[in-house]
Amino acid sequence: MAILLDSASLADATAAAKLGFVRGITTNPALMARETKEPLAHLARLLEAFTDGPICYQPTRSTYEEMDDQARTAAALAPDRVIAKLPATAEAITLAAELRRDGIRCALTAVYSPAQALLAHETGCVWVIPYVDRAARHSAGAVVVEQAALLEQLDSQTRILAASLKTAPQVVEAILDGSHDVTAPLEVLRSLPAHPLTESAVREFAAHWE
Ligand code: G3P
Repeated sequence: MAILLDSASLADATAAAKLGFVRGITTNPALMARETKEPLAHLARLLEAFTDGPICYQPTRSTYEEMDDQARTAAALAPDRVIAKLPATAEAITLAAELRRDGIRCALTAVYSPAQALLAHETGCVWVIPYVDRAARHSAGAVVVEQAALLEQLDSQTRILAASLKTAPQVVEAILDGSHDVTAPLEVLRSLPAHPLTESAVREFAAHWE
């Protein structure tokens, strides 16, 4: 089980590293575009800001050649830490297979169907990344449950990394549904320990010593 930060912000990466329970980072082209016009140079800075654990880098360009080039350049920055994150299109799945053959670890993202998860398994992807909140908004079904059942049936090494998580209950539900790992924005990660009864218990303890 691993909890990752879903952000390309250097400030978020630095803050997440201090939380003590965040094991890696996922980025995507939209998150990257908020931070930089030079995504690969920015990835190098993220690797410095968050010094341990995997960082999933999704190419910001979408032709086969551009994705291939960016994925290989990103992986070369830190072969043990960078995972090429590719959208679950036919073209990108073929690229994932090719990168995997060359020793570059891949994850398949924006995954909504068990058939896409099957191909993540077949191409040896480290992670399959279903978008939970987006699936709910589009009535796309129980994405994590279906993919978990399929990967379990296959005794797959591919893990589920649930993404598009907007609340703490969604994070927990994704894990109960069968997700191995989760990635969420910093504010969601910070909300994980929050509970009003814990806060009132802490106030009560403190009152004894005032
Ligand atoms: O980074 C993947 C995922 O979190 C994007 O989904 O709904 O947060 O835009 P969303």
